[in-house]
Amino acid sequence: MRLLITAGPTREPIDPVRFLSNRSSGRMGYALAEAAHAAGHEVILISGPVTISPPSGIQIIRVETAREMYDAVRTHLPGCTAAIFSAAVADYRPAHAATQKIKKSATTLTLELERTEDILGSVRSTFGFQGFLVGFAAETENLIPHAQDKLRRKGCDLIIANDVSQSGIGFDSLENEVTLCLPGGHSIPLPRQSKTALARELIAHISRLSSPHAPQ
Ligand code: CTP
Repeated sequence: MRLLITAGPTREPIDPVRFLSNRSSGRMGYALAEAAHAAGHEVILISGPVTISPPSGIQIIRVETAREMYDAVRTHLPGCTAAIFSAAVADYRPAHAATQKIKKSATTLTLELERTEDILGSVRSTFGFQGFLVGFAAETENLIPHAQDKLRRKGCDLIIANDVSQSGIGFDSLENEVTLCLPGGHSIPLPRQSKTALARELIAHISRLSSPHAPQ
């Protein structure tokens, strides 16, 4: 496979020294990139700001904002046979980033937010991607119905769903426990394990499912 992977959070500027972001560590996406590279696949990793080291031997494109990640995906997607969207992209950004540091004055401050680009949601509809498309769904309730709905809405071939209401898995954790949601309402639960071990298992599933001869 020639595989594009998004990973990590995005940062949406409020002013020159402040931003909106989230707790994503990037570990799941980086582990997927490493596992895919180790399995002999070509990997392009598009990463938001993280503190972990990049896996060696893979092409990494660093971005900060959702807009930059959207542009990087649009640039690098052509020629890829599969894409995994594991980044925790901010859903909203400040509508107007201040050019100077905001000084405190009134007792309350209201920020107006606007929607960011839906990167995964643009892959089929706007970028015309024909390859194998994988998204993540982090949910706190109705995990499988929400993931199945996301699978259909975004034209994915696979959604990796995790229940982020459980402590110790998912966001900013070393471990994860996910369910694979496939078209036709099929789902495959995978046991809780380290993100490194899970990444190897996920790449094996994606490699098998994306092969043109995969049993449906
Ligand atoms: N994603 C993306 N661009 C965004 C937001 C999300 O590419 N602006 C991707 C994530 O990388 C993930 C998937 O979309 O693979 C699921 O994100 P999520 O925010 O849960 O999906 P939404 O459809 O926005 O649903 P919700 O209403 O739950 O926020």
